[in-house]
Amino acid sequence: MGKDIPVAEEMNQSQARYPELFGRIDPAAVPRHVGIIMDGNGRWASRRAFPRIRGHREGVHSVDEVVACAREVGVRVLTLYAFSVENWRRPKMEIQALMSLLREYIVKKLPVMHQHGIRFKTIGRTEDLSPNTRKLLRRAEQETAGYGGLVLNLALSYGGRTEIVDAVRSLVRDAADGKLHPDHVDEALLSARMYTAGLPDPDLIIRTSGEHRTSNFLLWQAAYTELYFTPTFWPDFKRREFLEAILDFQGRERRFGLIGEQLKPTKRVDDAL
Ligand code: IPE
Ligand code: IPE
Ligand code: MG
Repeated sequence: MGKDIPVAEEMNQSQARYPELFGRIDPAAVPRHVGIIMDGNGRWASRRAFPRIRGHREGVHSVDEVVACAREVGVRVLTLYAFSVENWRRPKMEIQALMSLLREYIVKKLPVMHQHGIRFKTIGRTEDLSPNTRKLLRRAEQETAGYGGLVLNLALSYGGRTEIVDAVRSLVRDAADGKLHPDHVDEALLSARMYTAGLPDPDLIIRTSGEHRTSNFLLWQAAYTELYFTPTFWPDFKRREFLEAILDFQGRERRFGLIGEQLKPTKRVDDAL
């Protein structure tokens, strides 16, 4: 059956609910890796005179929608910035609430990951998390390791600078052991020591809530990433908003330092170079 002739039973929710937006997406130019800085839960809640945690709870619904939508449009890797190294400085109560939401999420969604062949991964200093949380994360990673569907990558206790420090440390350790010559250090080697080793660099990073900063997210990997900023708070960012971000991305010209005439008529990173 033709891949691009959708039949009713093959229609996914993104297609069924947003046929116009979905129909405008070019399946050949879907970003392979999308990163999201899920920001604005607290402000979403404050505007409604709710406690901040209610905003985080609501944000989990957005995670559900965006994970499903990413799968439905054919994104290969989705990296969600869930907790930064800097977030440890928040009030203890809020940190505890976030960690308990995280555990609840994994327990509830592991069957869904199995159902859709989603491979779960984490990046960050997860050793900073509680033993209970770590155990759950490890379980989800191990149980889904063999799947070839969407890679759902959660950034937890993550910091871009911390990641670079950890990568450099591991290289210096090898050099000190005589296993690595300084001349052999290059971009590929450093990339292979990042938490994201083996994953493509993000093509698109979305930040919600109207802030125009990266807040220490994927610093090394985002060298040529397209950035998309939206004033929408994370709890209001659902399928429709994700599809709009993909469409915006598809309207960009990625030049990678070249001039327009040098580019082949394609938007794929690997083809363009
Ligand atoms: C993002 O929402 C969630 C995390 C950083 C864990 P915030 O909690 O930062 O919400 P705002 O930015 O205060 O509105
Ligand atoms: C960035 O949001 C981190 C996450 C979304 C997990 P923050 O709310 O922590 O970022 P800043 O403090 O506004 O830069
Ligand atoms: Mg914030």
